Amino acid sequence: MKVLLVNGSPRQKGNTAVALEEVAAQLKKNGIDSETVWIGNKPVRGCMACNACKGKVQGRCIFDDDVCNSISGKFASADALIVGSPVYYGQPNGAVLSVIQRAFYSNGAAIAGKPAAAIAVCRRGGASASFETLNLPFQMMNMPVVSSQYWNIIYGREPGQAALDVEGLQTLRALANNMAFLLKATGGVPAPGRGEEQWQPMHSIR
Ligand SMILES: Cc1cc2nc3c(=O)[nH]c(=O)nc-3n(C[C@H](O)[C@H](O)[C@H](O)COP(=O)(O)O)c2cc1C
Repeated sequence: MKVLLVNGSPRQKGNTAVALEEVAAQLKKNGIDSETVWIGNKPVRGCMACNACKGKVQGRCIFDDDVCNSISGKFASADALIVGSPVYYGQPNGAVLSVIQRAFYSNGAAIAGKPAAAIAVCRRGGASASFETLNLPFQMMNMPVVSSQYWNIIYGREPGQAALDVEGLQTLRALANNMAFLLKATGGVPAPGRGEEQWQPMHSIR
């Protein structure tokens, strides 16, 4: 089984990379593979709500000029997803939010029901708010959110400093252990969500 790790920092070898490397190493100890994809440092579009992904193109965003489709194209072959982001102004990096929103809207069916987790990386503040924000999309996609012994937060400013946060690293190893446990316990079968039930939209706004 394989976990897709998204490095949502424009700094490829920054502290988010340190966090994801710790997760990848611990997953490996548990016999679980991983693949890390980097969000890059080129412009990323926001969702235009054009709904082309529901019509003339299916399973992908109509905009092919950034990293979104190459990341969402890996959803089908992944058994789980972990998104790591630096904290910017108390929020996840804007590019991460744009990619996740577009990737889930256009190809969410390929990741729905699969276990997920978020990691927030910061110098000092805003980690819990960012962590919660990153978790929100998972929770409307029937994705079991995997927990740890603390929120998945790690501290550092300059690239590499996160390696000094021993508690943060331990939290991430526990996350990886729990992710491996869940994947093995379920055999990698996604959660059913509403199963065979028809969607029940609220009465007034659809
Ligand atoms: C534009 C910008 C805004 C930031 N805002 C915050 C913040 O609100 N809180 C914080 O603790 N760190 C903040 N930081 C620091 C980063 O979160 C920190 O350096 C982190 O380690 C970056 O992760 P990376 O090395 O993976 O890019 C900010 C950094 C930048 C560039």
